[in-house]
Order: sequence, then structure tokens, then C-alpha cells
Amino acid sequence: MGSCCAKDQTASCAASTRRRVAILGSTGSVGTQTLDLISRAPDKYQVVALTAHTNVQRLSEQAHALKPELVVIADETKYQELKEAVADLNIEVAAGAAAVVEAAERDSDWVMAAIVGAAGLPSTLAAAKRGTKVAFANKETLVCAGPLMMDLVAKYGCELLPVDSEHNAIYQVFDAKRRESIRRLIITASGGPFRTKTREEMAVMTPEQAGKHPVWTMGAKISIDSATLMNKALEVIEAAFLFQMPSEKIDVLVHPQSVVHSMVEYEDGSVLAQLGSPDMRIPIGYCLAWPDRMETPAPRLDLAKHGQLTFEEPDPVKFPTLSLGREAMKLGGTAPAILSAANEIAVQAFLDNKIGFLDIEKVIEETLSHGPVSILTDLDVLLEADTAARRYAAEQVEKRAKKA
Ligand SMILES: NC(=O)c1ccc[n+]([C@@H]2O[C@H](COP(=O)([O-])OP(=O)(O)OC[C@H]3O[C@@H](n4cnc5c(N)ncnc54)[C@H](OP(=O)(O)O)[C@@H]3O)[C@@H](O)[C@H]2O)c1
Repeated sequence: MGSCCAKDQTASCAASTRRRVAILGSTGSVGTQTLDLISRAPDKYQVVALTAHTNVQRLSEQAHALKPELVVIADETKYQELKEAVADLNIEVAAGAAAVVEAAERDSDWVMAAIVGAAGLPSTLAAAKRGTKVAFANKETLVCAGPLMMDLVAKYGCELLPVDSEHNAIYQVFDAKRRESIRRLIITASGGPFRTKTREEMAVMTPEQAGKHPVWTMGAKISIDSATLMNKALEVIEAAFLFQMPSEKIDVLVHPQSVVHSMVEYEDGSVLAQLGSPDMRIPIGYCLAWPDRMETPAPRLDLAKHGQLTFEEPDPVKFPTLSLGREAMKLGGTAPAILSAANEIAVQAFLDNKIGFLDIEKVIEETLSHGPVSILTDLDVLLEADTAARRYAAEQVEKRAKKA
């Protein structure tokens, strides 16, 4: 945020010091929670750009409430509809994937990267290239393009602020100046809706059952990722790139209450953790106000009320996605991108009722073992691997598709 021009803050002076923010994926779960926080502090934040995929109605409502300079709809067929919906506002309207990237490139102090899946990759990379503050929820970007992304972050001096509650927790207690004294990272996991189910029970679970997370309310894809525990596999990879730690030094610990959001163990035996009620507005608010703190409406943590916090090892037999994630990290190169692309295809097929719940892990496993894994030299190599993995995963889905 810029400094103010006079001791006596006039309205225009206050306006000029507002942090200019762009929200990519504003209509989603993370996006709407970000806007919830912004709308509670209108003197601090000015919304510059909002983007969505297809949800014109919500995007239009957000535009009317926050008056951004630009609104973008990624689906070009929705352009006219959006244009008409915001015709009474004097704002720019654009459509298409390139326009989403333009929203990331627009002059702003802070970008929220909250598009789901690899679709968020170009805009997140574009924001990082601006050397601005990037709050990134879009974990798939770091999973697929970790080394490329971290190179850009270093080269352009971007401040990468993790929104994922686990990574945000680690970020808050990670002593980057003494990283050699860090023994391991411990990522906590709620265990998802099927923590206590058997494999036989999991096999017949519907998208609706899988999407009902016991603690968090999230978008459709990440909810299924939480049920398969693929979300944790992706988070281990995300943490490895973000904190530059070998994945063998990153453990997963099941903690059903989701109060301890993750931990860092130091060589002297100290374990530092960040705690809070399970409300995404805490990590989002941390990123939004960084390096300051802001008031959020999240329920205050009352440990006495909780009484007990419990922890257990994850079950690798029941949830093989955890090992698949580790295998992808070991293979390196484009393997994490293949894993993530296969997961996106499989999760969508499950949500569309084409395959069963346990088919998700099979499609991922088959696609990862098919490869081919290449050295991740640039974005073209990545996109090629992503396209090939999606094609192969879609074929595996067809083979497994439920008979009508
Ligand atoms: N939700 C959480 O609590 C949470 C926690 C930690 C991390 N994350 C991560 O944050 C990211 C967003 O998750 P979410 O739960 O907020 O997802 P979500 O509710 O499904 O929202 C996704 C957002 O991305 C937009 N979008 C989808 N496909 C797009 C495309 N092809 N091009 C451009 N925009 C597109 C959507 O627009 P429409 O609304 O128009 O479809 C929406 O604004 C994910 O990577 C997730 O893993 C989420």
C-alpha cells in the first residue's frame, strides 16, 4: 500500500492508498470469501478486476457491489450476456482465456489466484511475472509447474502468499532464515468424509456423499480431492516446491477437528503450529492484509469447547493417492503435472457420474504409469504433458465408464 500524502487524510488521499486487488476466480468458494473480507474493509481495498468461468449472474452481482475496472468471463460464449448484465456500470468487459491473463497483468498490488485446476496456470504465472503479491489458492499451478513458478517468483521478486490453510499455517511458523534447522513439515488432514469408511463402502459412494466434507465447505473439485485424499498428495507437492523442502521431509497427519492447520518441526525438538477455527477467511485474510493482520468474522477458537484434539496416521492402503503423489515427486519433471491432469479428468468424470469413486485413483495410477515423463524445461513441455495426460486419462475413463 502506498503511503499517504498528508497528515490529514482526505477522502481522495485515503482512496489512493487502498490496496488495488484483482480476484481471479471471484465466483468460487475462495473468491467469494475473499470478496466477503474485502467488502468489510472498503476503505482498505479497491477491486480492480474480477474473473469467472461461466457464472455471469454471480459475477454481475459482484461487479455491481464492488465496481471493479474490469470483469472477465473465461467462456467466450457468455460475453454478450455479461456485457448486458453490467451495461449500467461504466466498466470494461472482456471474455476468453487471454482476457483472464490480462486481468492478472492489470496494474494491481495484490492478486488472488483462485481459479480451480490447471486452467489457473497462465494467469497465476502472469501475476507472478509482475513481481506483485500473489495470494495463491490455485495449488494445481504449483503442483504442475513448481520449478517454473518458483523461478519466476525469484526472478521477478513476487511475494507468493499461500492461501491453502495448511501452507498458510506453515508459512506463518517457517523460519526461512534458519531453514537448515527445520527437520520436517507436518501437514494436517481432516481425513475427509470417508475417513472411517471401508473400501467396500467407499466404492459405492455418490458424488453428493463424497462432496460433503465434514469440516470445510469448498468447491466441487477440492471436495472430491479431500475425499480421495488426493488433496493431501497435491499439498505435499505444493509444500515441497513452495518451501523448497524434499518431499521425504513432509509428513501427513490426520487431524479430524482441523484446528491445528499444520506444523514445522525444528532440530531441537520444538514443533511450531498455527491454530484457528476451520474458516478459510483466516488464511485468506492473512494474505489479504499481509504483512499486517486484519479482523475477520471467523469464529474465535475455543479450545476448552473442543476439549480434545486427536491425531492419527493416514491409512495408505485405504487412500493410495498419497503414495501416487509421492511417486510423482520422485519421478520429477512433468510427472506431478500428469498426476494433476489425470486427477482433474477423473474427478470430473466421477462428478458426472461416469465412473465410481474408487475409479478415480485407478485412472490416476494408470495415467501416471503410462507417462511419458519429460524433463520440465519450459511451459511448452508442460502443456504438452498436460494435454497428453488428459487424453490418456479420458480414455481410461471411457474404459471404466459405468454402463447405462
Ligand atoms: N475452497 C477452499 O476452501 C479451498 C481451500 C484451499 C485451496 N483451495 C484451492 O483454491 C482453488 C479454488 O478452489 P474453490 O474451491 O474456490 O473452487 P470453485 O468454488 O470451484 O471456484 C473456482 C473458480 O474458478 C473459476 N473457473 C473454473 N474453471 C475456470 C476456467 N477454465 N477458466 C477460468 N476460470 C475458471 C470458477 O468460475 P465459475 O464460478 O464461473 O465456474 C470459479 O470462479 C483450487 O485450486 C482449490 O484447490 C480451495
